[in-house]
Amino acid sequence: MGIVFDEQQNVFMLQTKSTTYAIGIVEGYLGHIYYGRRVDSRDIKYLLRYEENPKTPKVNQREKNSFLDQFPMEYPEHGMGDYREAALCIRSLGGYRASESLYQSHWIQKGKKPLEGLPASFGTERECETLCITCFDPILHMEVELYYTVFEEADVITRHVQVQNKGKEAFYIEKILSASMDFDDRDFELLSLHGSWARERHIQRTSIGYGRQNMGSIKGESSHQEHPFLAVLTKGANQEFGEVYSMNFVYSGNFIAQVEKDQFDRIRMSMGIHPEGFCWKLEVGERFIAPEVVLVYSDKGLGKMTRTYHDFYRNHLIRSPYKDKKRPILINNWEATYFDFHEQKLLEIAKEAKEVGIEMLVMDDGWFGKRNADDSSLGDWFVNEDKIKGGLKQLVDQVNALGLQFGIWFEPEMVSPDSDLFREHEDWAIQIPKREITQSRAQYVLDLSRKEVVDYVYEAVAKILRSTNIAYVKWDMNRQLTTLGSVALPADRQGELYHRYMLGVYELQERILQEFPKLLLENCSGGGARFDPGMLYYSPQIWCSDDTDAIERLLIQEGTALIYPVSTIGAHVSVCPNHIVGRNTPFQTRGNVALCGTFGYELDITKLSREEKELIKQQVVNYHTYNELIREGDYYRLISYSDNKYYDSYMFVNKEKTNALLFDTQILARPNRKSRNLRLQGLEATKMYMIEGKQYSGAVLMNVGILLPEEQGDFMSRVIQIKGV
Ligand code: GLA
Repeated sequence: MGIVFDEQQNVFMLQTKSTTYAIGIVEGYLGHIYYGRRVDSRDIKYLLRYEENPKTPKVNQREKNSFLDQFPMEYPEHGMGDYREAALCIRSLGGYRASESLYQSHWIQKGKKPLEGLPASFGTERECETLCITCFDPILHMEVELYYTVFEEADVITRHVQVQNKGKEAFYIEKILSASMDFDDRDFELLSLHGSWARERHIQRTSIGYGRQNMGSIKGESSHQEHPFLAVLTKGANQEFGEVYSMNFVYSGNFIAQVEKDQFDRIRMSMGIHPEGFCWKLEVGERFIAPEVVLVYSDKGLGKMTRTYHDFYRNHLIRSPYKDKKRPILINNWEATYFDFHEQKLLEIAKEAKEVGIEMLVMDDGWFGKRNADDSSLGDWFVNEDKIKGGLKQLVDQVNALGLQFGIWFEPEMVSPDSDLFREHEDWAIQIPKREITQSRAQYVLDLSRKEVVDYVYEAVAKILRSTNIAYVKWDMNRQLTTLGSVALPADRQGELYHRYMLGVYELQERILQEFPKLLLENCSGGGARFDPGMLYYSPQIWCSDDTDAIERLLIQEGTALIYPVSTIGAHVSVCPNHIVGRNTPFQTRGNVALCGTFGYELDITKLSREEKELIKQQVVNYHTYNELIREGDYYRLISYSDNKYYDSYMFVNKEKTNALLFDTQILARPNRKSRNLRLQGLEATKMYMIEGKQYSGAVLMNVGILLPEEQGDFMSRVIQIKGV
């Protein structure tokens, strides 16, 4: 059983296969007792220290403030005396900011209900169990429901929060985080992901000092720069050793992810919607649902954490019918032509692509309105017949006749100032009256908090999809939100816009998928600015970065694969010198790096040499041979290019441990070295494996390792098969 309530001790025990999460009730206060390696004893409530001075308010009313500021709160609220980071801040209609919600009741049920309007993980009644603890503030008549779902086998606990107004007047939610967790510092470190456009999700580790350290986004998207993920880990924890506590937010908009080390050397870790610019008016009877946080604890280093997330997202978050399938190998014309193309050019690309085994042509930006550069036509979703002569259907039919599927690019959330849509509906853009709307890439953002705007966008996209045989959509979002205002919202609801915008995006994607359930959707945001679990609920893959350079991609894909399954990582082979960094890398290396993703091409195939086209044919064979193992196998990181300047290696092992694949890149050649020793991971010690005609036991491969000859040249890479015998 995943969840037990011990009535004698007032303790909730949430048990997964190898972890325990324990909550205790003390005089109505919910305290976080423990999260970590599984324990079965329920006699652990002493960790709440409620008998230590200052003792609880009932015993020591005069020092209630000290109690509130020390007690390990399960869900801390603002205003009564806990000065650490609050998860909830309420402002009453009278303007007062405080709440104190005490335990009222709870229920435990098999399974998990969806979160209305939001992406969230799912599981059957056999796979998971949900606990809901209801707390109540009698002054505001506010009900706070804390939800915990325990996925026992998956070793994951998810949390989210709902607040309901049961009173007689409205109040304002000024801040609502989805999870908060207090524990004693054991000299932990912090791991987060940071980046920029074309440099997303690099791994950063820092020590944890006193005070607050946070990551976040107020850009209206999860962002290139910081990531809705946070891990607190024992100093020096590596892939195989050390304890890791992590949180990942199932949301694609503004977020905050924070650790705070307090005066008592305790850590508070929290995650949720960023409070900046957020304020939600909750009318009588209304409910606000805060998005979900996924908690993973690992006692075996980052590697185990990674594999737990991968399996969990593959089995309990991604819904697409494609999630367990090989994706069509696509060729995208963006880096091949940018805006300069017409239907004949696309057909030439398609013809040559077919010859080498590519399976889908994707027409990127520039096919609609009068868009020949990035400064017009977003919103005018009708085909530009000057470019696509004969219309879209004719082009798609011709591509299909060549034996390729067809995919198309949209940026549905946007509007260009120079567009028919904007000329007709200026008020549909997010804006503050009288103030200049800040442009970015010469575009504005549509106000998706408005139903009529969502309906318009939905119809515009659906109309194109209905008009012909489109198998794939790349859904882009190329700017962040600014000048936040909706002319349709009243003054005291403007603070709802960021979140209402996200709800609009989710509704749009949901409706598109309902009408086109077989569509392969790939999300994208100026590369990888919205690569998060929220988007994965709608699309089984996300374009990872506009940087297609194989060496840059090693770092970007490593950070991304720290949490997300490799099957979700949009990765393509492009030409050299690379368009972003100008680097030349071997074609083979570019192929090997893209294989550890969705795999495809982003180049003008008509300009490639015969040798390069032969290499594509080989890469296509590799894709078909290895994709199942890469897509479904367990990922083991061996050596990271972020820790050393020479090598980067990782491997995939199938669940049965009978088959594995090693990817090894030599970034820089090193003089006067013949070979290096590399130890593998994830194999069965007692099994025998074959590598390049030689037999080894799993124990030898993992402890003694293999010898890899040094290669001549920089940026060299190889793929080595490890076959069980
Ligand atoms: C974004 C995407 C690119 C491409 C362009 C088109 O930058 O990440 O892949 O689609 O938009 O404008």
